[in-house]
Formats: sequence, C-alpha cells, structure tokens
Amino acid sequence: MKTGTPLTDSATRVMLLGSGELGKEVIIALQRFGVEVIAVDRYANAPGHQVAHRAHVVDMTDGTALRALVEFERPQLIVPEIEAIATDTLAEIERDGLATVVPVARATQLTMNREGIRRLAAEQLGLATSNYAFAESLEELQAAIDGGIGYPCIIKPVMSSSGKGQSLINHADEVARAWGYARSGGRVDSGRVIVEAKIDFDYEITLLTVRAIGSSGEIETSFCAPVGHIQKNGDYVESWQPQAMSAAALRKAQDMARTVTDNLGGCGLFGVELFVAGDRVWFSEVSPRPHDTGMVTMVTQWQSEFELHARALLGLPVDARLRNPGASAVIYGGMDKAGIAFEGLDRALAIAQTEVRLFGKPEAFVRRRMGVALAWDEDTEAARARAQQAAGLVTPVAGD
Ligand SMILES: Nc1ncnc2c1ncn2[C@@H]1O[C@H](COP(=O)(O)OP(=O)(O)OP(=O)(O)O)[C@@H](O)[C@H]1O
Ligand SMILES: [Mg+2]
Repeated sequence: MKTGTPLTDSATRVMLLGSGELGKEVIIALQRFGVEVIAVDRYANAPGHQVAHRAHVVDMTDGTALRALVEFERPQLIVPEIEAIATDTLAEIERDGLATVVPVARATQLTMNREGIRRLAAEQLGLATSNYAFAESLEELQAAIDGGIGYPCIIKPVMSSSGKGQSLINHADEVARAWGYARSGGRVDSGRVIVEAKIDFDYEITLLTVRAIGSSGEIETSFCAPVGHIQKNGDYVESWQPQAMSAAALRKAQDMARTVTDNLGGCGLFGVELFVAGDRVWFSEVSPRPHDTGMVTMVTQWQSEFELHARALLGLPVDARLRNPGASAVIYGGMDKAGIAFEGLDRALAIAQTEVRLFGKPEAFVRRRMGVALAWDEDTEAARARAQQAAGLVTPVAGD
C-alpha cells in the first residue's frame, strides 16, 4: 500500500462523482491521508467542491462527458456519491482499466434502479422483502395491486431517491394519482414503477456494512452498530445509534447485509436499509456508499462512516466500533432562496455534547437539507433530545 503527495506526480487521485454533504466528508477523510481529490457535481459550489483540490461541474448522466472528464483528470479511483450517474460508462471505465470504481461498477448499476437491486435481493439471493411488482401503465399497476399486493401499498418510480415520486396509498381511488406522481417524480421518466406492500415494521435501520482488507490480507466484512431513523415523506429527519434490537433480529440483519454486500463486491462502506418487526427482518434497499442516516457516526464511532469508506477504498484497515450513543437531527432550508444565512448557531452549540454541520449549499429549498445537528449522551433518547433541540435553534433566514 503506497500513497502519494497531492498535486505532484506521485499523487493518489480520487474523483468523487457527486459532492454533496456526504461526499464532502469523504473528501475531508481522504485528504487527511494526503489524497488528491477531484470533486464533481452537477452544479457549482456544491459542498464537496468547496473542500476539494479541484472542482468540476458536469452532467454525470452524460456518459460521453463523464468519460472525457475521467480521461482528462486520470484518477486512480472513482467514488460515486449519488445514484444518478451514467453507470454503464462507469462499467466501461472499469473494464478498460482506466480507473477503479468504488466499490465496483456493477454495484452502482444494480442500485441506481430499484428493479435491479430488488430482483437480485429477493429472487437471486432469497432475502425477505416486501411483496412487490413492477408496472408500466396505470392498468398494469392496478392489476398488480388487485393481483396480490393489496392495500396499503407504496408506489415508487424505479429510478428515484429521497422519496421523490413516492406515495403510500390505502384505497383504489388513489391509484391514478400515485401513478401520475411517480411519473413526474422519477429521475428519468422511464414510466416504470415498483409497487410494494407496506410492511408494518416496529422500526427501520441502516446497517452500515464495511468491506475492507483485513489482517488476513483478504476482504473482511464488519458491521457498525445499527442506526435507527425516522423518515418523513421518504426523507430522513432524525437518526440515532445504536438502535436496540433483539439478538435474533440483529443476527438476521447482519446475515442479510453480508449476503447482499458479498454479492455486490468490492471494498467500501454500504448502507443496508432494513425493516424490523420483533425478530423478523426485511431487506429494503442498499447504498454502495455512505448513507445520509449515518451522519450520526461523526459523533458516535471511532471512525465515522466517511472515514470507514475512505479507509476501505484505499485498502487500509478499518475499525467499525461504536464509541458512544448519539443522534442526528436534520436542519432544513425552510425557504426557496439562494445565499441564505443561519441564526442561532451560537445557541445551538451552547448545548453540551452537541455539534452542528452546515453544508454550505449555495441555494436553499423549503425541504432541502442544509445542515445537521449531532449530539452524544449516555443513551440515544437523551442524545436525540439534545440533537433536536440544537437543530431547532439553528434558524435559516434570508441572507440579504
Ligand atoms: N414497503 C415498504 N413498507 C413500509 N415502509 C416503506 C416501504 N418502502 C418504503 N418505505 C418507507 O419509505 C422510506 C423511503 O423508501 P425508500 O428507501 O425505498 O426510498 P428512497 O427514495 O430510496 O429513499 P432514500 O433515498 O432516502 O433512501 C423508507 O425508509 C420507509 O420508511
Ligand atoms: Mg431508502
């Protein structure tokens, strides 16, 4: 294992595809090892752009533009941070030996489309999931629901994230609206949706799972303590670690996470999303990269999910152990406006055992995540109270 000096001929160069708040933390973690980092996003001054050695604005769904940028920058490693990327181009780049894609190009291909990862998990790997079907028209959707999915059910575009285009419906008279919303909310209007039976879970978790070279010299899997979270409209608002689980549920969750990440392969951190009721566990989806709910690890683990990802992709040893319980609470923009300001950071940070990250996004939207409050304590309940209080004290205001 050899690392170079940034901005010289010996540099170890990593290109981040997507440079939001999660990418920004990965960049910082990489730079601490003297890695040269090139941050790419679809808009200027993205959070990761602000801390990288170089920044580019590129439409990453444009395979030709993406390939040209990789040939220009010549990174040894490419680290996708978002799903909306020309993943077939990543597969070509990997096949041509131009760069290593983290964890592997196939993982990014399978997870950018709900159909790919769901069929792999449920049909090939035999993991328990919600009942599901795919549909390409309102008629097909209705037939799938009537044919066994039933109500309540959740309709999602096959290509979307952060709850976009997603609806939970209870009655037949809501199907048409859900179909229309899915069609408008998808990343690309493929006109294809997944309809899933709603699982009545007790709680949901992200099981952060790391594949990294271990002391044996082989890839070994380690698990972070489960992260519990609350989602509103498909977007996470609060998370905490550790989520209390029965021993049986935890074992099942780890088995499922190992099965799916073994299949995806490569080195890196994965966010495996699971639903839990009693000792039962269902696989939902997986991100082959750090997970938004895992921001809590910045105050709970010896190595945050970002540091774990950076170490794993560089071939370095990892330590996924929990240090102390903690929680995170999201800070939203609260308005549609560029260049906003924040009041109350001083009051938020006056709460003991609390930290705040403001991501520096150039433009706010009412429901855009602009920052996060983090807190630690003896237990997750106490930490949640601190994080919520701190998040509530940071107030977005018009910047002018
Ligand atoms: N079948 C289901 N049963 C019950 N709840 C569900 C189901 N599918 C989704 N949800 C709820 O909706 C949330 C978002 O769903 P999902 O993770 O599939 O969407 P997403 O758009 O990929 O979200 P993100 O990108 O934030 O992970 C889940 O975390 C869960 O709370
Ligand atoms: Mg999800």
